[in-house]
Amino acid sequence: MAWNRRNLLDLHDWEPGDYREFVDYALSLAPRLESVPKQPLDSLRGMTVANMFFENSTRTRNSFAAAEQMTGASYIDWSASGSSMAKGETLRDTVWTLCEMGVNGLVVRHSLTGMPYYIQKLVPHIPVFNAGDGARSHPTQGLLDIVAATRRLGDLKGARVAIIGDIKYSRVARSDIHSFAGMGASVVLCGPRTLMPSLPDSLGVECEDDPRKAVAGADIVMLLRVQLERQEAGLFPSVGEYHALYGADEELLSLAKPGAGVMHPAPINRGVEIASAVADGPQSLLREQVHCGVLTRMAVLDICLGGRR
Ligand code: CP
Repeated sequence: MAWNRRNLLDLHDWEPGDYREFVDYALSLAPRLESVPKQPLDSLRGMTVANMFFENSTRTRNSFAAAEQMTGASYIDWSASGSSMAKGETLRDTVWTLCEMGVNGLVVRHSLTGMPYYIQKLVPHIPVFNAGDGARSHPTQGLLDIVAATRRLGDLKGARVAIIGDIKYSRVARSDIHSFAGMGASVVLCGPRTLMPSLPDSLGVECEDDPRKAVAGADIVMLLRVQLERQEAGLFPSVGEYHALYGADEELLSLAKPGAGVMHPAPINRGVEIASAVADGPQSLLREQVHCGVLTRMAVLDICLGGRR
């Protein structure tokens, strides 16, 4: 991997070899996080990262904070709610204000597609990390998902990954398509026609209407959160009907390969896209995903902010 990345805005420019090298590096950090007491990397001591969240988050926000601590960086935890933006301060003035506090990196989550790119242009001298923008991209989720899947299942080359749900509005699906394909897996997408995008053939993904066919022989079954506002928009009739047709229960999972892993970026809607028996069952990788989220963000920060270089 070319260890000269300064920003993580998207995954579309990553080469297959980059993903493999990244996964190896992220997994090599596991003993540091898992030993008691922990063994911080400390490569970013003296650096400060501002975590700017314009949208709610539990996993991404707190695992960036944990990763910053594990790399020795200090962090500023900023939310739009409760900030001076409520008094009318502009985005530009907010970003510049935080940067003048000695910030060396910005983590940005925003509901608007492309906002991390815009912020990166405002402060080109400061690395920006996309923590999820609109329905476009969630690159650290795409990376943590391949780290978690590799840790549990081994080499993903030739694996079949079924992604089921609201593909159209999912930034996770967009990033996972790149990351799993980059690891040599084949990706099949499945969801109600109203929640399926039209994708370019160049992406090389299979689309399947029937979740039973999508899951058949899969090594990984990835469920996506049903965003309940889609029901209000009339894109599916009811959560009950969604669960009956597309929800992952033990019967659907039995069609996957024995020992297949179940993934979900979370937060989950129990009993909608995933039954509790599956979310909490022996094949669930949901907790592994959270854990690998910290390893992944440690690796990203270390690579982009210079610890690795
Ligand atoms: N998966 C994910 O991005 O979760 P949060 O919204 O809690 O960060």
